[in-house]
Amino acid sequence: MKTITATILRQKKSTGEKITCLTAYDASFASIVDESGIDVILVGDSLGMVIQGQASTLPVTIEDMVYHTRCVARGIHRALLIADLPFLSYSTKERALDSAGKLIAAGAAMVKLEGGSELIIEIIQYLGQWGIPVCGHLGLLPQSVHKLGGYRIQGQEPVQAEMIFNSAQQLENAGADLLVLECIPAQLASRISAALTIPTIGIGAGQDCDGQVLVLYDMLGITPGKRPRFVRDFFAGQNSVSAAINAFIREVKSGTFPGRERE
Ligand code: KIV
Repeated sequence: MKTITATILRQKKSTGEKITCLTAYDASFASIVDESGIDVILVGDSLGMVIQGQASTLPVTIEDMVYHTRCVARGIHRALLIADLPFLSYSTKERALDSAGKLIAAGAAMVKLEGGSELIIEIIQYLGQWGIPVCGHLGLLPQSVHKLGGYRIQGQEPVQAEMIFNSAQQLENAGADLLVLECIPAQLASRISAALTIPTIGIGAGQDCDGQVLVLYDMLGITPGKRPRFVRDFFAGQNSVSAAINAFIREVKSGTFPGRERE
């Protein structure tokens, strides 16, 4: 089976084939997700909430991320493996290189970081010089939850929408290979996806992103507390985890997910 690369993801964007992505945090789930034919597996810092039971992603450390990235890497053969740089692990260029290097050594093929500030642009360029591919993340930034005042949709005001649009272009120009768009209006995500040559992966960002990502536990219906409104329980009506993941892949590829869920 052919390993998925950033180049293959770009080809999918250019042919209009939707990209599929799920999170995983351990080898067993990662292996099931990989065997289902998913394109991208993300070791998200969402593990702070879904694995560790924390109230946010903020307490997650680079050591936690390295541990889970190693576990996931052992379970997969085909999907592109992305690992999140956790809160404050990229507060300077040098720190970002050190942290990203640890995740790459643990088995990630790309690292993800949040935001579109000047520092983030510099970090993407710097990591690129060291041959480290980067996925950006704009819109709702969970690592900035206190500054944002909660987990709420971003980019509804025209000024903020314009800032997100401009940041997306700057991230691409800086050398980002992929961009996650979280909880922004579908129309804004659609405009960004059309303007960029790199693929966009949406979560709560409407149908026109080049791909979709969900937290594995959420799409299996294992969400302690309130489930985000953009999540669909793909396990409902299925009799195995593989069947639920296959349903997610099928519905993303056919364009029926996202659908009824709030954007
Ligand atoms: O941490 C995570 O799982 C993420 C996804 C929600 C995109 O960043």
